[in-house]
Amino acid sequence: MRHSSHNLFLLEMLRFALLLAALASPGSLFNLDTSSAIVKVGPPNSLFGYAIAFHQQSTSSDPILLVGAPKAISEDRRSFGIPTGAIYSCPTEQTCRPIKMEFIYNAQKENITEQWLGVVVRSAGVGGKVLACAHRYQLVRALNNVAETRSIVGRCVLLSATLKPDIYDTDSGSGYIFCGNRMSTHERFGVCQQGLDAGFTEDSQYIYFGATGAYSWKGL
Ligand SMILES: *[C@@H]1O[C@H](CO)[C@@H](O)[C@H](O)[C@H]1NC(C)=O
Repeated sequence: MRHSSHNLFLLEMLRFALLLAALASPGSLFNLDTSSAIVKVGPPNSLFGYAIAFHQQSTSSDPILLVGAPKAISEDRRSFGIPTGAIYSCPTEQTCRPIKMEFIYNAQKENITEQWLGVVVRSAGVGGKVLACAHRYQLVRALNNVAETRSIVGRCVLLSATLKPDIYDTDSGSGYIFCGNRMSTHERFGVCQQGLDAGFTEDSQYIYFGATGAYSWKGL
């Protein structure tokens, strides 16, 4: 309780400060640092910056900025040219580069077009893992058959501290898809949209996922 009322107080203070700033300079914006700001730029129309996280590979390495761009076109070998979304690694002094995911991609069974990888990016802290999600990832069953179904289950992937995909941890080789092997009707898990939000617990021992679309959009 004390913690949350403290946060509320801070929020109120912030609101007040913003209000003062707005009153003091009507119609103009301000920046915290206009003279030496570091600006990171991604591909146009990729929603670069939709999610961001600071990450540090180890105690001796410099912090980097991780930037999600959910509509970026893939530069991976396996999915080149498909708008899959991407996570960019942005060292302070260098240009941003997309992290290579190289998902094991099966076009008969999955649809990664517009999956929105980068809707969520989180770091578990110094030397910790990185979590990224794609809440519009689809599983396809019976492709080109009258019984074809598409389930917008969503998925999340873990990256090692050094930003290498850790996807082989899981059975599917394509990340955490917890709605994948469950009932695929929309009343159950067919439109889970896992990963619209996700994160690490404070001790970094657990990952949690939100699945807004489970149970007819009641969420899970
Ligand atoms: C794959 O998903 C995209 C975006 O939702 C959609 O436009 C396309 O028709 C899908 N393709 C297949 C084969 O399901």
